[in-house]
Amino acid sequence: MADDVKEILFSREDLSQKCRELGDQISRDYEGKELVLVGILKGSVVFMTDLMKEITIPCNIEFMEVSSYGTGATSSGVVKINKDLDMDISGKHILIVEDIIDTGITLSYLVDYLKNRKAESIEIVCLLDKKERRLKDIPVAYIGYEVPDEFIIGYGIDYAEKYRNLPFIGSLKDEIYKK
Ligand code: PRP
Ligand code: MN
Ligand code: MG
Repeated sequence: MADDVKEILFSREDLSQKCRELGDQISRDYEGKELVLVGILKGSVVFMTDLMKEITIPCNIEFMEVSSYGTGATSSGVVKINKDLDMDISGKHILIVEDIIDTGITLSYLVDYLKNRKAESIEIVCLLDKKERRLKDIPVAYIGYEVPDEFIIGYGIDYAEKYRNLPFIGSLKDEIYKK
């Protein structure tokens, strides 16, 4: 698995430090508010668990599962909701927890989808931002890092369902996905 990595972009230590910074900032910003973290499966699973441990105010957690990439290397452009929220979010402050924003199609679809549920606010925390590829403009309140236009894997992020369990974030060798 590690042989397929072109370059390590962010180490375990980088990522735990980043979660600490984001967690501090979120804890300050949402003090006294009813916060619900909404992790977007599957990609956000590792980021969600690391980030929530760094949030020092009370919060609820929820998950949604959406997918647009399937097993391909590029987004299909069609977002499929496989699992919706379990909780009524009216009056709550929603913070969507996402691993990476690429075209922006997934997050803009999600925010639109959740808009009529009477949440008090809806914001996004996204670990990685691949700015160059954006098709849909969507404001992201908290961003961990900008990443280059490479195929990103690890720390929850997959290529064809593989590499999610790598403990760091890296780029995938071109020959693996450009076949
Ligand atoms: C990936 C990633 C983001 C989305 C970003 O999810 O985890 O959710 O694509 O791409 P976009 O900005 O171009 O929409 P994917 O659909 O692969 O599902 P997964 O999280 O289960 O891997
Ligand atoms: Mn995803
Ligand atoms: Mg994926």
